[in-house]
Amino acid sequence: MLRRASDPVTAFDGLLRRLARDMIDTMRASRGIGLAAQQVGETVSLCVLEIPAEPDAAPGGPEMPMVLVNPRITAAGQDKESFEEGCLSFPDLAAPVVRPADVEVAYQDLDGAEHRVSLQGLAARAVQHEIDHLQGILLVDRMTQMKKLALSGRLKRLRRETRDRLARAEPGGAG
Ligand code: NI
Repeated sequence: MLRRASDPVTAFDGLLRRLARDMIDTMRASRGIGLAAQQVGETVSLCVLEIPAEPDAAPGGPEMPMVLVNPRITAAGQDKESFEEGCLSFPDLAAPVVRPADVEVAYQDLDGAEHRVSLQGLAARAVQHEIDHLQGILLVDRMTQMKKLALSGRLKRLRRETRDRLARAEPGGAG
């Protein structure tokens, strides 16, 4: 599921609203700052973000939580930063990933209206991670070969645990 690229959202209906609400609940319950639809078993282009307010942040930033439908990066700054990323789909795993420090993102809201927003800091970091998810790109694809090697034992264990969990799940169940 995590490897599948998402399908664009075309129906801005109650089901989409409900999914967004469920995703915000799941993100909060897992103490995450972002979640993509694939992580809850849906292959639609939808992600949510909730970035804690930074004490020295300039006023006028986007209101949280954010719901981004069909998000895409339309511009990225020249400056790149390395930052230790985690992912709710890879518990207890973290690795430094280099990404642009600021990005401009176009997206639609739950009513289908188009928006454009500039994000910096942790919000820029999180939105790039979530848009990766929507394209089937994972943290393990972004880490350096060295880091992947260093984490290979833990990655193998995660793979085995996931396989066991899926095998135990009832046929047709969500697993
Ligand atoms: Ni993630």
